[in-house]
Amino acid sequence: MKKILFIVGSLREGSFNRQLAREAEQMIGTRAEVTYLDYYDVPLINQDIEFPEPEAVGSLRATVKEADGIWVFTPEYNFSYPGHLKNLFDWLSRPLIAGDYETPTVINGKKIALSGAGGNMATAKCREKLTELLTFIKANVMEQQTGIVLNVEAWTEGRMIISDEQKAALKAQVEAFLKFM
Ligand SMILES: Cc1cc2nc3c(=O)[nH]c(=O)nc-3n(C[C@H](O)[C@H](O)[C@H](O)COP(=O)(O)O)c2cc1C
Repeated sequence: MKKILFIVGSLREGSFNRQLAREAEQMIGTRAEVTYLDYYDVPLINQDIEFPEPEAVGSLRATVKEADGIWVFTPEYNFSYPGHLKNLFDWLSRPLIAGDYETPTVINGKKIALSGAGGNMATAKCREKLTELLTFIKANVMEQQTGIVLNVEAWTEGRMIISDEQKAALKAQVEAFLKFM
């Protein structure tokens, strides 16, 4: 069975993007094995501690290597992606051995899906910039993405409602990603 690694770009407990991820997970059902990346312990990128790789970075790389695909569900922060996602991908872009730029990194060619829930732009800027970053580090980003404009109640009461239309878009992306992988 294919393995999909979900990365939620929000650290907050009540994250709407995590709720979106759960929705996609249900739609996938038993057709793939979904796991969520726990990245709280990944240190901030620092070339002084790159080699040997910190333990948390080693386990991050192993988890990414094992996955057939990665699905990122992320909020947009100031027309871009959250800094902690940049930190993860910066780590993943680096060689395992100092100076070795020949051996492919675990993110090379990795199939990636992007979705996000946010304000009026439906995280378009975030996904655009994330696509640029991921393409630069040689990941394989699927063109079909899902952007969700959060309902009013999400902002006023913390209650996210995913409309039928939004569910249909997410479902279409699920089918597309299962094929893409
Ligand atoms: C630092 C920061 C910057 C933000 N900038 C944007 C933005 O540029 N566009 C947007 O749609 N929402 C922006 N928001 C609002 C988020 O979309 C909103 O808080 C959302 O609920 C976060 O996702 P989450 O529920 O998964 O945590 C920003 C929030 C934070 C904390």
